[in-house]
Amino acid sequence: EKGTYPHFMLKEIDEQPFVIRKIIQEYQDEHDQIKLDPNVRQAMLNCDRVYIIACGTSYHAGLVGKQFMEKLANIPVEVHVASEFSYNMPLISEKPLFIYISQSGETADSRSVLVQTNAKDYPSLTITNAPGSTLSREADYTLHLHAGPEIAVASTKAYTAQLAVLVILAVDTAQAKGIELNFNPMQELAIVANAMEALCDQKEEMEKIAAEYLTVARNCFFIGRSADFFVGLEGALKLKEISYIQAEGFAGGELKHGTIALIEEGTPVIALATQANVNYSIRGNVKEVAARGAYPCIISMRGLDQEGDTFVLPEVHELLTPLVSVIPLQLIAYYAALHRDCDVDKPRNLAKSVTVE
Ligand code: M6R
Repeated sequence: EKGTYPHFMLKEIDEQPFVIRKIIQEYQDEHDQIKLDPNVRQAMLNCDRVYIIACGTSYHAGLVGKQFMEKLANIPVEVHVASEFSYNMPLISEKPLFIYISQSGETADSRSVLVQTNAKDYPSLTITNAPGSTLSREADYTLHLHAGPEIAVASTKAYTAQLAVLVILAVDTAQAKGIELNFNPMQELAIVANAMEALCDQKEEMEKIAAEYLTVARNCFFIGRSADFFVGLEGALKLKEISYIQAEGFAGGELKHGTIALIEEGTPVIALATQANVNYSIRGNVKEVAARGAYPCIISMRGLDQEGDTFVLPEVHELLTPLVSVIPLQLIAYYAALHRDCDVDKPRNLAKSVTVE
């Protein structure tokens, strides 16, 4: 039930710090070590390549998850949109592990790939919020998101839960492989949960940004580099799905290869700047669009912020910034939809889980 909340989406955005804390609890043993199904650990150790299969928001989580696994656990990862993969299967490595990411566990496009990989006896792991679901039952192993029911069509807490479970899985694999990491996932996730809480207390600022940038906008661009690019894709999906504003996410460096032609006087461009190694270049991209009339909104991370930034995020570990930077984007989408009188929880033409291919 939504209790005092006007919409499930807002309630579910607010639940994110609690979900992260719940995940910390569920995936930690009494000696503060990662607690994970040993079969999942073994499957990760046995594989020479991970194939992540997902749709929509879960696909966006997969893109970030690839970075976790490659950077922390040194395992090559491919991320595929399920609907494309099922008829255009790439060459598969000798020892693949298929990871299906799905909030509902019922997405038909993902299931169709699972049926194919099961037919080839490839090992599979489903990361889902619904352990009794089809994708969970038909895969070899399951990791539970523990996010609680997600009712709003726009996925919010499932995304951050997926990222939290993926980083725990990546660190567990790294440890099992004997890789020394200077990164304690539970401590870093606890910092993330606090940062999320602080952001959820700043709703008025997000509402103002939505009012200022998006009340009359026809379109909106999200730009970022590295992990910020993936979060931009998610921010754009959130905005288009519930506010019907045409929104797209782009890699900052790719704009000048075509998309910059779409920038007009006043076009809102939301830029994320949470990654130290690309801070200089993303700010260059902001200048490029501003010089062509765009109205930039810069969301940066404390420590990388510059004068004139629109909003500064509390600092978290650089790998985990997507869990935090997505929150303003979820809230901006929420308020933009609200201001435009859209049905936030049940946007037109969409279903919570897409059970047809
Ligand atoms: O249940 P799933 O995670 O498999 O769903 C995948 C997508 O249909 C879903 O994430 C969709 O993109 C959301 N409505 C996005 O907010």
